[in-house]
Amino acid sequence: MNSSHTHYDTLSRALHWLTAIAVIAAFILGPEHFGREMRNGLDPATRIDIVLHESLGILVMALTLLRLVWVAVRPAKPSFDMPAWMHIASKATQGLLWLMLLAVPVSAMLTLGSEGHPLTLLGGIRVNDMPFIAQSAIADMTDWGEVHELLGNAIMWLSGLHSVAAIYHHRILKDGVLLSMLPPRS
Ligand code: HEM
Repeated sequence: MNSSHTHYDTLSRALHWLTAIAVIAAFILGPEHFGREMRNGLDPATRIDIVLHESLGILVMALTLLRLVWVAVRPAKPSFDMPAWMHIASKATQGLLWLMLLAVPVSAMLTLGSEGHPLTLLGGIRVNDMPFIAQSAIADMTDWGEVHELLGNAIMWLSGLHSVAAIYHHRILKDGVLLSMLPPRS
């Protein structure tokens, strides 16, 4: 059978796994006590964990935007027979994952912008302030740092559920869903 019926195209697979690695690495490097350390005068550019966390997070956002464009124009994805409830559950989890992949980095930008902290990235890139966020009504709506932490933890739970579902398809249903995201065997 033609592999386009059983497997995602190469770019979709590459973007999927790169995003997964970047999200996990960003989560592991999530800076604890960031607000307190900033109030104590920390320059975040001097902390490699913070610089890596923010760079990986921005990479996640860029990869997600690129994936959304690719999803609109890519070859048809493989489809699998499954009960309606399973199809709905998988669509719901994937929809939420897409939303979180954008909401987590956006909430991070709102955290930095509303609290007046710089964005510090690899290569010495630094954005000292984001007046369009600081001066907008959204800045004072909530504690965006807490929202970001909550969403950052939630995306890991959701990714865990997504992975358990993929393993269930592979080990129990043996229906090729997990294999569709891996390179086709020659
Ligand atoms: C998918 C990407 C991301 C994930 C999974 C993620 C996850 C997290 C988590 C779990 C924390 C809390 C760490 C803790 O308290 O132990 C955190 C904190 C933080 N993250 Fe992210 N993050 C992501 C993207 C970003 C981006 C793009 C930026 C910068 C633009 C960023 C900046 C921050 C900052 C400044 C904090 C400290 C917030 C505070 O305590 O006020 N993160 N992140």
